[in-house]
Amino acid sequence: MNIKLSDGTEIPVEMHKIKIVQKAHLVPARERLQAMEEAGYNTFLLRTRHVFLDMLTDSGTNAMSDNQLGAMMVSDDAYAGSESFYRLVDAVKEVFGFDFLLPVHQGRAAENLLAKVFVKPGDVVPMNYHFTTTKAHFELAGGTVLEIFTDEALNTCSTFPFKGNLDLEKFRQVIASHGSDHISFVRMEATTNLLGGQPFSMENLRQVKKMAAENNILLVLDASLISEQAYFIHQREAGYENTPILDIVREMAGLADIMYLSGRKSCAVRGGVIATNRKDLFESIKPWLPVYEGFLTYGGMSTKEVEAMAVGMREMTDLGVAGCSADMIRHFAHRLIDRGVPVVTPPGGLACHIDATRFLPNLPQSKYIAGSLAAAMYLASGARGMERGTLSTDRDRDGNEVFSDLELLRLAVPRRTYTISQIDYAVDRLTWLHRHADLIKGLTFVEEPPILRFFFGRLKAIDNWGQDLVEAFRKDFGDEL
Ligand code: F0G
Repeated sequence: MNIKLSDGTEIPVEMHKIKIVQKAHLVPARERLQAMEEAGYNTFLLRTRHVFLDMLTDSGTNAMSDNQLGAMMVSDDAYAGSESFYRLVDAVKEVFGFDFLLPVHQGRAAENLLAKVFVKPGDVVPMNYHFTTTKAHFELAGGTVLEIFTDEALNTCSTFPFKGNLDLEKFRQVIASHGSDHISFVRMEATTNLLGGQPFSMENLRQVKKMAAENNILLVLDASLISEQAYFIHQREAGYENTPILDIVREMAGLADIMYLSGRKSCAVRGGVIATNRKDLFESIKPWLPVYEGFLTYGGMSTKEVEAMAVGMREMTDLGVAGCSADMIRHFAHRLIDRGVPVVTPPGGLACHIDATRFLPNLPQSKYIAGSLAAAMYLASGARGMERGTLSTDRDRDGNEVFSDLELLRLAVPRRTYTISQIDYAVDRLTWLHRHADLIKGLTFVEEPPILRFFFGRLKAIDNWGQDLVEAFRKDFGDEL
């Protein structure tokens, strides 16, 4: 929770205390260079023994609460009819207001099922922005993803509080030109991941729902980051300043025909769900659940995770939990801005996003700007982030490179995992890197997979710049760090 100090500054104060810790290792720069070379300059391919701050993602890496861990111990390990499932049903009803629930092993499994049932070849799927796995599933089903965000969404130095809004005029045009019958559904992603964790407003969601309902189009809510989305509405939208997070979550869910989520984020667990109040929709998805996931009462999740999800879902509606990562990200971003490092504003959810285009203004997109910055950040700090740019965008069907709208280095802040001094360390190393940005010369593929290439692709540093960067680092910090 952000608390004002007596000198007027604000800091994010943790609303939890640490009971269990894991030892962290900071290997020296020369070892980091070797690890990066072995990982093909792809932060996904590093081993965690070489990583100091794991800021790759907030997915499945959040610190769980004592109550979540406790709940795992009382799970009911049954293939069918598990009591753990019914406890999750109760939590979903209480938090979101949905009656029907399909558990899945993680968020993309929900996307697979939704694609299977609703996306027909030739369909379009409008949305406020895509997520990598979302796009892959909907396109594999023969659909085309249409991103109909507002002009402000791609402005990385903005003060606009709701860059995750869907552009209603564009939605109207999509309906007019494609017709409702060819629109699988409209998808709204809470705290839009690839735009830098940016929320939509409740007002926008209401308008999207209205237009969708008038045209007989389903509204699907990706609620993976729903507690942060609710927190931003609480912080930024007039009329919600005194509304509890739970009520905001329920209001959003109440507007959706179908909600799905990756439980690995706001719920601080591993797994996922699809939920709805429409029995007909539930029944249309249900037969596929045992084909792809597992029986209805576990859906590919371990029953331990089912129990922990029920607890995590309730806990995420606590203001101190909903805001714990967002407040730290705000601190992270403001410290960087004070030091002249270009970050996406306003600060969003899940991560501090560095605007790699402004960080490396002389590097063309063909040399993978954000990917280069992710590799350089690891070399300079041992912190690994994730490229969210052209590398994360697959080639088109003709094999042409598709340059991403934004080139971002995402430094995720998993919930309740890191301390402010660790964040301040990352700030310092990024600031140092910014002063040495001219050493970074880009990346080129050595091995390029055909789909979701950012996961397993291997690259190399053009002109061996990794070595030069590490030598510059050692000159300033010595051999120990
Ligand atoms: N939707 C959103 C908004 C996501 O951020 C993710 C995953 C998914 C769906 C897929 O869920 O991973 O459980 O299968 N985001 C992770 C990330 C991978 O690192 O941002 P999943």
